[in-house]
Amino acid sequence: MSSESGAGDARDDRDALPWAALRAAALAAREHAYAPYSHYRVGAALLDRAGQIHAGANVENASYGLCLCAERSAFARAIADGVTAFRAIFVVTQGALPGTPCGMCRQVLAELAPGIPVRCETVDGARLDTDVATLLPHAFDAERLT
Ligand code: THU
Repeated sequence: MSSESGAGDARDDRDALPWAALRAAALAAREHAYAPYSHYRVGAALLDRAGQIHAGANVENASYGLCLCAERSAFARAIADGVTAFRAIFVVTQGALPGTPCGMCRQVLAELAPGIPVRCETVDGARLDTDVATLLPHAFDAERLT
């Protein structure tokens, strides 16, 4: 057996993930999104390394700059539950195109879940499969602070 992991292995790993459960959790959280300004509702579901799912929704504010994205909402929930190791994230949005994590969320993903698979889907099922390294190459990280 080869000890190297090629693109095919990565795809096999991805296929083994519980995407249906992640999608269901993201959709359920999205129902609770607080988005009275943009009306753009987002749900995110993080799979941790123990197999548990932590979901979040976007939380907007009349002071627009304070809006919290669903992805960071999911991380806050997981961290508060004592979870720090992640396996995948599912993001669900409306519209024709899958909504990808914003720049701020990409930076948070790179810090807390480097390299994990990211599946972005619309409620109607349009899909974009990617990963954190692709979304944010050359991320600024703690190593560079030394
Ligand atoms: N939003 C997210 O929840 N995640 C993203 O990665 C992109 C944007 C939210 C923020 C705001 O509440 C709404 O979508 C419109 O930008």
